[in-house]
Amino acid sequence: MKVGRNQIVTLEQFILDQERDFPYATGQLSKIIRDIVLACRIINREVNKAGLVDILGLTGDVNVQGEEVQKLDIFAHEQLVDALFKGGMVCVVGSEEQEDFLFNEGCEGKYIVLMDPLDGSSNIDVNVSIGTIFSIYRRRDYDADEVLKTDLLQRGSEQIAAGYVLYGSSTMLVYTTGNGVNGFTLDPSIGEFLLSHRNIRFPEQCHTYSVNEGHYRTFFEGTKQYLRHIKRDAKEPYSSRYIGSLVADFHRNLLKGGIFMYPGTTEKPEGKLRLTFEANSMAFIAEQAGGAASDGRKRILDILPKHLHQRTPLFVGNKEEVRKLEWYIKKYGNRAKYMADLKEDKAPPLANNSK
Ligand code: AHG
Ligand code: MN
Ligand code: MN
Repeated sequence: MKVGRNQIVTLEQFILDQERDFPYATGQLSKIIRDIVLACRIINREVNKAGLVDILGLTGDVNVQGEEVQKLDIFAHEQLVDALFKGGMVCVVGSEEQEDFLFNEGCEGKYIVLMDPLDGSSNIDVNVSIGTIFSIYRRRDYDADEVLKTDLLQRGSEQIAAGYVLYGSSTMLVYTTGNGVNGFTLDPSIGEFLLSHRNIRFPEQCHTYSVNEGHYRTFFEGTKQYLRHIKRDAKEPYSSRYIGSLVADFHRNLLKGGIFMYPGTTEKPEGKLRLTFEANSMAFIAEQAGGAASDGRKRILDILPKHLHQRTPLFVGNKEEVRKLEWYIKKYGNRAKYMADLKEDKAPPLANNSK
């Protein structure tokens, strides 16, 4: 998976090779990826100097979900919108930082980008990895004069590309156009993204789970039972790793094997993460890397969003692990039945692959 020495391939070279080899990797799509990367390089620069300049702190505003918005979120949003609209290929952008879709007036471009400009932004002031997440869709009715309602909210399975940029100890771009997942690391000395991780696949073994377990008591029974199972019954102990930045948590699990969970809770049954800006992109990448993504009952990529800021529970990572989790949710999803079973003192059944 890792690219060896003496095989230097720049992102630019990789994009050109892809265009030659795969007819659906059009020049327009490549241009959008280049535009996103350009914006992310500027965001990266600001993220890196965030501790040095007076850019930290809150704007005092709240975003449409009622959460605090930090200055860098807005900065990242503006850089991306600017790059995408000037690029001319993108007619509509949906952003976590904007309540409604943004239309690129007069643009004849056929593409729609949904994005989380800065993910994990509450981690900025403690110098922890953050990221940018994007999904690219094509207008459904390619020939219609105007953007139609059905173009705007498409299933994740309609994505033609998705990716993220991780601002970590190195800056990385990981993306897919539906033909496997590749990772590029920014070499700051030459200012280029170099292919560092070719055809990334989840490792077979999964011994890591990532969840904010502080919310345990509000988890539904299926999630609790799954967690109990992996802690109590697994032959080899799992490691718990949770950064609190989806991009960073997902990236680690993708390379090392693991499951990321942001479940629905009794307080927030739909969970916290957004289907459109966060879950779909990760789900597409996960599936392309041999993994799976589910809301606990169904495939994330099959959900038809009803509105732009829709949330969803998210379980994403090694396929077998996601399936196991779904098994527990199916088994214990009906809370009333579970409580009745408990009253009758029935021992909870174990999953097939328990010791
Ligand atoms: P954002 O900064 O875009 O609002 O996203 C934060 C998200 C995500 O990155 C992370 O997985 C999750 O919030 C962490 O939430 P908790 O602090 O509730 O665990
Ligand atoms: Mn986010
Ligand atoms: Mn964000």
